[in-house]
Amino acid sequence: MLMISVFSPWSESSNMARKSYWSAKKSDPHVLYQLSVQNVEQEEEFLSGTFEKLRGRKPLTLREDFCGTALSSVQFVKMGEGRQAVGFDLDTEVLAWGQKHNVDPLGADADRIHLQEKNVVSVTRKKFDICAAMNFSYFIFKKRNELLKYFECVYKSLNDEGIFVLDIYGGSEAQVVLEEKREVDEGFTYVWDQAAYNPIDNSVLNHIHFEFAKGPKMSRAFTYDWRLWTPQEVVETLAEVGFKNVEVYWELEDEDGEETGIYEPAKVVENQEGWLAYIVGCR
Ligand SMILES: C[S@@+](CC[C@H](N)C(=O)[O-])C[C@H]1O[C@@H](n2cnc3c(N)ncnc32)[C@H](O)[C@@H]1O
Repeated sequence: MLMISVFSPWSESSNMARKSYWSAKKSDPHVLYQLSVQNVEQEEEFLSGTFEKLRGRKPLTLREDFCGTALSSVQFVKMGEGRQAVGFDLDTEVLAWGQKHNVDPLGADADRIHLQEKNVVSVTRKKFDICAAMNFSYFIFKKRNELLKYFECVYKSLNDEGIFVLDIYGGSEAQVVLEEKREVDEGFTYVWDQAAYNPIDNSVLNHIHFEFAKGPKMSRAFTYDWRLWTPQEVVETLAEVGFKNVEVYWELEDEDGEETGIYEPAKVVENQEGWLAYIVGCR
């Protein structure tokens, strides 16, 4: 990941030094987020690999919706000469951060990425090979007609070979109040806090906190007030706006039942307490 070289000064140092580097006061929440949440290498492989399988060529243009710090756009552009990406987000601060820390370091290639303060519920004049809405960001649309309107805008912003890729999570564990901690290799703890779940309308309130070896935690670094959509609801809404060959891509397991990071279209799968999948629709 791009940020590691900039923000990880401990490559030769001990694990203790690595752990004491981070604190709530000194750490940038965007750096912590990128290191703990995003895996843009794997994501780009899925985006480009799926496009290539479906269309028989490599993708050249990406519209990254809800782009945040635009790390996905950066990875997309880095993986192919002549590739271009456009990122949309409503948050001026996060866009400026992404421009400075992720896009500008690309040097001459930075020109191939354009970040715009823009609502994703917009049809663009430029038509794209791929539109991606990652890390469940479209869950902010809580009403079906809002989701439909957004999907319509994406549909109209793709070229004739364009595809739309979304991710989705779920399972029985997604429907309970819980806190899950994970040690991040770089030396801090990521906390996923499912603070509320309403079974009537499937709304959820989630927070991300970060904990450090010493000192106070960074509480509620990010908060998400979402509707937990189900794959079938998303598939049906995509089909309704005209997307074709809409498929849910489920993660394959190896012979020991371990995750492989490889996702394939699936119709029937074994129930799981927690899962993460992709949904792909074709123009
Ligand atoms: C969960 S973050 C996703 C960041 C990044 N795409 C990722 O994969 O980790 C959601 C982002 O969506 C932005 N956002 C929320 N509503 C939006 C809208 N209607 N149009 C554009 N951006 C929006 C927020 O400002 C925030 O940066």
